[in-house]
This record gives sequence, C-alpha cells and structure tokens, in this order.
Amino acid sequence: MNNLGKNKKLLLAKYPNGLAELDDFITEEVEVPNIVDNELLIQSHYVGVDAALRLIVRDSDEFLFRVQPGDIIHANIAGEVIASNNKDFEVGDFVTGALGVQSLSISNGEGLEKCDPNLSPLGSWLGGFGVSGLTAYFALFDECKPQPGETILVTGAAGAVGSMAGQFAKLAGAKVIGTTSSKEKCDWLVNELGYDVAINYNDENWYEQLEAAAPDRLNIIFDNTGGSVMNEALKLIAMHGVVLLCGSTSQYYQDEMSGPSNYIWLGSMRARLQGFVIFDYAERYTDARKKISQWIDNGSLKLPEFVCDGDIEDFPSAFKKLFEGKNFGKMLLKLPAAK
Ligand SMILES: NC(=O)c1ccc[n+]([C@@H]2O[C@H](COP(=O)([O-])OP(=O)(O)OC[C@H]3O[C@@H](n4cnc5c(N)ncnc54)[C@H](OP(=O)(O)O)[C@@H]3O)[C@@H](O)[C@H]2O)c1
Repeated sequence: MNNLGKNKKLLLAKYPNGLAELDDFITEEVEVPNIVDNELLIQSHYVGVDAALRLIVRDSDEFLFRVQPGDIIHANIAGEVIASNNKDFEVGDFVTGALGVQSLSISNGEGLEKCDPNLSPLGSWLGGFGVSGLTAYFALFDECKPQPGETILVTGAAGAVGSMAGQFAKLAGAKVIGTTSSKEKCDWLVNELGYDVAINYNDENWYEQLEAAAPDRLNIIFDNTGGSVMNEALKLIAMHGVVLLCGSTSQYYQDEMSGPSNYIWLGSMRARLQGFVIFDYAERYTDARKKISQWIDNGSLKLPEFVCDGDIEDFPSAFKKLFEGKNFGKMLLKLPAAK
C-alpha cells in the first residue's frame, strides 16, 4: 500500500426507477494499491456529469458501457498524473479519460488523452473543448452542413452539446432556434449565446412560437432530447431536411422508450433521420480543437459551464439537477483537488 490515502468511489446501489435518486448510488472508500510497471496514478479534478449515464444504468444489455449494481459509475474525468511508471506520462501531466466517478484512478494509459491547460482550462476538456463540444462540432459540420440563411432548431439548446451546437450554427450563418425549459434559460440563449429565437417548451403555445419563428420551415433539427418537442417539430421539416439524432434525453429514464410518430413528414419532404456517435471522429479531435481555439481567441465562441463544487458523494445530486434542467451549458463536478 502507498501513503496516498484512500480512493473515494461512487457505485451504483440499485437500478433507478424514473429519475435517478440519491439513494440509487453509494460511496465507498478503498485503499489505493501501489502502481506496478506501466501504470500511472491519476487524481481527479473534474467529473463530467452526462445525461447518457441514465441510459447505461438501465437494467438492460442493449447499451454500451452498461453499469450494474456494485459497478463504479461510468463518467469522464479530467485530472492530474501524481505517480507514473509509464514512459508516456509524467507526474504533473493533465489527462482526461473514462475513469469513472472516483478521486484516484490507476490506469495503464490506454484511452487517456493528454490535455494542455494552457490551450483551454482543464474542466473545459470535458465540456466545450471535450466530447460535448466535439459532438456538436462534428454532428453539425459533418452531418447537418448548415448553409447561410438556413433555419436550424436545436432541442436541449441550453445543455452541454446544445449550447455549442447553436453557436456553431450561428458561425455557419444559419438562423438558430433553440428549445429549453424556462424563460431564464431562453434569455440566456439569446443574450449570451446569440441564438436568434429561444422557446420555452413548457409554454402552452410553444409550437405556434416555433411555426412563427420558422416561416421557411426547418432545414435542420439537431435533436438532443427526443420526445414530444422533436415529434412535433418534424411537422416543420423542410424539403431535403436533416434530423440529427444526437441524443434522446427525455427517453432515457422512461420504462418504455418511444420514438416519433410524425415520421411521415420525413417521407413527403425527402428528409433524413441521421444517427450519430462521436467516437467515429476520434482521429479528427485535434483538428476540430484548432478551429474551436481560433473562434474562442477571436471572441466568437464561448464554452458555457455550470460548475458544482463538491466531492465524489455529491455526484448524485448534481446528476439529479441535470435532469431537472438546472444546468446552463456543461455540468461539471469540481472536486477538492482542483485549484
Ligand atoms: N451521439 C453522441 O455521440 C453524443 C455525445 C454526447 C452527448 N450525446 C447526447 O446528447 C444529449 C445532450 O447531452 P448533454 O451532455 O449536452 O446533456 P445536457 O443537455 O447538458 O443535460 C441534460 C438537459 O436535458 C434537458 N432535459 C432533461 N429532461 C428532459 C426532458 N424530459 N425533456 C426535454 N429535455 C430534458 C434539460 O434541459 P432543459 O432545461 O432544456 O429541459 C437538461 O439540462 C444527451 O441525450 C446525450 O446522451 C450524444
């Protein structure tokens, strides 16, 4: 054993029923063994709080990275190498990786990515400069290909991916409409992120607002949530439009997940429903980050973050807040080790 103290880790206690509750998780403290040849020890500074976790804690074998009761909670972390017997990593290096919700992780380096905090602050490597921003970047520019003057709807617009997708679409010259859950978030989308129109999907007349905002119909629906908003929006898809299926947050905690019944509009409008998984683009992350850095440097792009200060045992309440729509941009759990 070494003298690093204990590793605090978060495990799944039981499968959640509906929205995940605090008692669906349990914290455990274990001794950290000494690292052996080729291994390194990482201290977590930030944990990414991702909606997709609710999908993989379902009692189902159908989804990648399944987490079962007793397993560590799957999550991406950003942290610092504090001991290394691996020639590719030095003490003091910063890395990100899918190391789970824990304060200390031992790794052989596989799947880790080095981060340069001078390029972008460490937490952002989990958000706008990390998977969330890269998802928005590739899904939008490679799959949706917005053209100047086109109209795009982003659902889940104020979330980690949505807040980046809307900004990228504006940079492409499109008219950008977003949906979210409150007036405060709508104001933020327009005033802080430059959305042209933001619609509160809890308004009774939200669909009429959408119709009025998109007189030439929707060339692109960038869908993060699925559910009734996406279903109704399909009625407004434009000729040869694209519906990008990025995520289906509204469905992840349902006993029976359901898809859109208004698919018939895709047929008459010669539109396509396009699936997407970010990992297909891993070899191009560096190129995308160069472009993202340029936009940050010239002031035309923000990396919105919603930081919750806390420790490993605070992850479940942050995760609950995510599904209550409390976040503006990427939700991060900032751990005591982060300066
Ligand atoms: N395809 C890929 O490779 C890929 C990669 C990353 C993420 N994703 C997916 O992209 C989606 C967005 O992920 P994210 O990390 O950016 O999460 P996020 O949008 O930051 O967080 C979740 C948001 O979802 C909204 N929400 C929660 N329950 C909802 C409901 N019942 N109906 C509508 N909206 C609801 C809330 O915003 P409101 O306040 O607006 O309701 C909440 O803030 C997720 O579905 C995720 O799985 C896909």
